[in-house]
Amino acid sequence: MNSYLINKFGKEKTSQFLREEGVKPLTNRVGKSLTSFIAFPQRGNEGSSKWKGNLSPKVTEALLKFIIDYKKYYNENSDVKVIDAMAGSGSLKLLCNRLDISCSSYDLNPNYQHGIGGWNAVVDELPESADIIHVHPPYYNAITYSGNVWGHHPHPDDLSRCNSYDEFIHKLNVANQKLYLSLRKGGRLIVTVGDVRKNGKFYSIQNDMAKLGKLESFIVKAQYNCSSDNKTYKKPFIPIVTEYVMVFMKEKPFIVHFSCTKHAVVDIRKSSNVTWYQLIKDTFEYLGGSASLNSLNEVLANTKKAKNNSHFKDRIRATISENNDFVRVRRGFYKLIYAAN
Ligand SMILES: C[S@@+](CC[C@H](N)C(=O)[O-])C[C@H]1O[C@@H](n2cnc3c(N)ncnc32)[C@H](O)[C@@H]1O
Repeated sequence: MNSYLINKFGKEKTSQFLREEGVKPLTNRVGKSLTSFIAFPQRGNEGSSKWKGNLSPKVTEALLKFIIDYKKYYNENSDVKVIDAMAGSGSLKLLCNRLDISCSSYDLNPNYQHGIGGWNAVVDELPESADIIHVHPPYYNAITYSGNVWGHHPHPDDLSRCNSYDEFIHKLNVANQKLYLSLRKGGRLIVTVGDVRKNGKFYSIQNDMAKLGKLESFIVKAQYNCSSDNKTYKKPFIPIVTEYVMVFMKEKPFIVHFSCTKHAVVDIRKSSNVTWYQLIKDTFEYLGGSASLNSLNEVLANTKKAKNNSHFKDRIRATISENNDFVRVRRGFYKLIYAAN
């Protein structure tokens, strides 16, 4: 087959054709069926595109279909009960109405139209269990809800009104734990979250939140119609154009799989698990890019590694001469090869 194509079209055209055909099945699927990257430029009908931070019902429809197919495959009861815990404009509830799937939806908004309003995921209990619990929380304070999208005053437990990012993550974890524990055996908690950049700082909610249950899938979803799309920025940065849909499964009663991200700061001067090269490079950077051997010795003398080595000055001199990153400027004075001047 390949030799026939090469004879007819030449080598270059043939390899281009085979390359493109090779990825076609994937590019044809993206945005049209459930894969680990989903992109639905047309959001679908249920809920409201005017509701700030609404979720395309095409995403939840694809997930519902997958879960129902999965249950059928394993001969489980495929009559699923769904809960949407932060329902917003009610996209999921309205989708379930169309698909004839039982769904209860809740939101802190006291005037929520399609289910139970005034329900606070941080303090209130869920009065029922479900096979699928979906939560699409605010993306920290990217969009504020109480006193802005709905109501006249900020609500103290509105997740978009937290005083700090840590408070937001804590409250989200409290809510997610409650939702997970309301799952029925074999059920899924679906968490849709996005990352946020505010005043130049990057907040990765998906990275920082606690994760309960067995992670069945981590879906990257393209974000459309972001308010930042039409702004121009002077400072270079990487725009956020994706959000994440995480599917967690409750496999067994009582037993909860759990993981969380630990944030820590380490001063490598106090560590022995570091090389002389790494320490010297950082010492140069600390001293502005260039330094005398005496200054390097003085700073490095206070490190744990130096305190454990009575010949540390010899080690420093040897490391400087052995490594290409360090350049001799004059007798007893060196600089980093990448120092500004
Ligand atoms: C990103 S929106 C959800 C959008 C929804 N998926 C849709 O398609 O329209 C987040 C929702 O979380 C709600 N919310 C914020 N804090 C809450 C809390 N403590 N309890 C329940 N809902 C809360 C907000 O009122 C808002 O409607």
